Amino acid sequence: MAFRDRRLSSATGAAVAPGARPPASYGSATGTPPGAHRGRGLDEGLGRTDRADAWWFVPVIQAVGLLVLIGYANYAAFLGAAHYHYVDGGRDYLSPFYSPYLKPAWLPGWVSPALLVLVFPLGFRATCYYYRKAYYRSFFLDPIGCAVGERRVKYSGETKFPFILQNVHRYFLYAALVFLVILWLDVFRAFVIDGRFGVALGSFMILLSTGSLTLYTFSCHSLRHLVGGQLDCFSCAVAGGPRHRTWLGVTWLNEHHMGWAWISLFCVCGADLYVRLLSMGAFQDPRLL
Ligand code: FES
Repeated sequence: MAFRDRRLSSATGAAVAPGARPPASYGSATGTPPGAHRGRGLDEGLGRTDRADAWWFVPVIQAVGLLVLIGYANYAAFLGAAHYHYVDGGRDYLSPFYSPYLKPAWLPGWVSPALLVLVFPLGFRATCYYYRKAYYRSFFLDPIGCAVGERRVKYSGETKFPFILQNVHRYFLYAALVFLVILWLDVFRAFVIDGRFGVALGSFMILLSTGSLTLYTFSCHSLRHLVGGQLDCFSCAVAGGPRHRTWLGVTWLNEHHMGWAWISLFCVCGADLYVRLLSMGAFQDPRLL
């Protein structure tokens, strides 16, 4: 019995065999064929366009959001090593930026332990397909938007250095999956108060951070490809049934990947800020249960 048709392709676009002529519909259906005219905007002055909509709004909002949140993350990682952990009142909350906490003896005192672990989550975000689009548009201004004049430095894909390095994304995904296991252990610790199950506002902050990171990771394009890519027939494949159901779930999450990217970034920064303020004695952690 064949599974129902895929609603969406599991790959990023339809493939054309090497040397074959793309069908006439290729451009309009799946993107611009290699070598074809790449659209209005490529030869225009920066920002010139006939578009009458607020095309600049999303790049501006993205730039502001990324500057604020990444600026905060840098502050927390580089300068905030004094308040990454809250152990008081029977609670044990660890900032997600510092998890797993590693401080080997050889690490100079002036280097934040966060820097040893952040390379993996940062690499995962920096090479994320959604964030690439966001920072190419918002910071490189190339491409800045459909049918809008670009910077003179022409972005031409990710086939050459340095952008070819973006292809390591799948390896950062493997690291991110390992990190999730560690972060969930922090969640369990956050729900232990005075040695027993307990719930406080801080428990929820840590849960929100790790929960949203899990949804972000499980909505990853590379994970979707790992689960269902390169397969034309689930019912012919080993473990095709469970694989197909997993692929459908990852596909559903993947359709909202941009949302998970932003929500998880807010929640991770929020959890760090909460732990930091508790550790500084700014307020008490309300116990809920
Ligand atoms: Fe965004 Fe993989 S594509 S995390």
